[in-house]
Amino acid sequence: MLEVLFKWPEYPKIQLYLAIATVASTFAYYLYSRNPSLASSPKQKRGLKDYQDVYNEIARRLEKDPDYEDGSYGPILVRLAWHASGTYDARTDTGGSNGATMRFHPECSHGANSGLKTAQDFLEAVKVKFPWITYADLWILGGIAAIQEMKGPIIPWRPGRADKDASHCPPDGRLPDASRGSDHLRDVFNRMGFNDQEIVALCGAHSLGRCHTDRLGFEGAWTYSPTTFTNQYYDMLLGDQWVQRKWDGPRQFQGSMSQTLMMLPSDLALIEDKAMRTWVEKYAEDTELFFSHFREAVTKLFEFGVPFAEGIDRWSFQPLWQSS
Ligand code: HEM
Repeated sequence: MLEVLFKWPEYPKIQLYLAIATVASTFAYYLYSRNPSLASSPKQKRGLKDYQDVYNEIARRLEKDPDYEDGSYGPILVRLAWHASGTYDARTDTGGSNGATMRFHPECSHGANSGLKTAQDFLEAVKVKFPWITYADLWILGGIAAIQEMKGPIIPWRPGRADKDASHCPPDGRLPDASRGSDHLRDVFNRMGFNDQEIVALCGAHSLGRCHTDRLGFEGAWTYSPTTFTNQYYDMLLGDQWVQRKWDGPRQFQGSMSQTLMMLPSDLALIEDKAMRTWVEKYAEDTELFFSHFREAVTKLFEFGVPFAEGIDRWSFQPLWQSS
């Protein structure tokens, strides 16, 4: 049939149409065979498997350096993803995870971002191996891999963030100040589009990691298991008596019983404010509720201001500890 058409000089247009159709359908089949979910979104060049490879690389490296802190880079990766996203301003649609502008001055020198170069350097090694991923997507994927690998909830993710230059850095002062109370927390989080319940759910990430005197001046961890994602943060808030620590550093609180654990003034605001406290009590009692509310709120946080192409699906990555 093709032979007949190609010998048929009177119908050159038909030959051209046939050639285009053949190339297009071969390309579509190629995309589909890489990942069936791409069938509805031809703009997506990479499939779930490509991003799962990046996820696995991050996950494998989290505990590469047993001397680092509590043995995992997970907590600082979560903080990087949060600080990259938490600059979002819904009114002007500026800031947020689209751009990864913290690579540049002045944003990298904003006081709140102190220490986050460690997380950026950690992810740079992954970027070298997978140069096709944007920094902006990689930083958020890093946060999600860290949460999941530390036994937190599965956080759905989709690609689409672009890297932007320094002219897109948000102004200083958009991230919360740990020395302030619930009114300030509402100002900051309402600006992004969050309510009280979401503020309390997001703060549960302080079950992870610790404060460092050489970064923001505060010191200590919030929970006994800083590399496992749990609802212990809420238990500690309600279960201990928090007294102001006597020291030269900034105002922070020490557990009367736990002694070694700490809370920031902004953490205690969650139990001093009546409306927020209700959520602290619910999350202390119900891990599943906390995980599900955290998943919803953090997905919003990580996606604010990102102009995802139409038809881009969210994927769930399999934790490394589940596949072995
Ligand atoms: C409510 C407002 C918040 C304030 C005032 C706040 C403040 C802080 C401060 C002062 C530190 C210590 C930084 C250091 O010395 O290294 C910290 C660490 C951390 N924050 Fe927050 N935070 C807030 C909300 C959040 C949210 C919403 C998340 C994630 C969803 C988050 C995740 C973390 C993590 C994982 C660490 C530990 C980092 C590490 O161990 O290196 N924080 N935060």
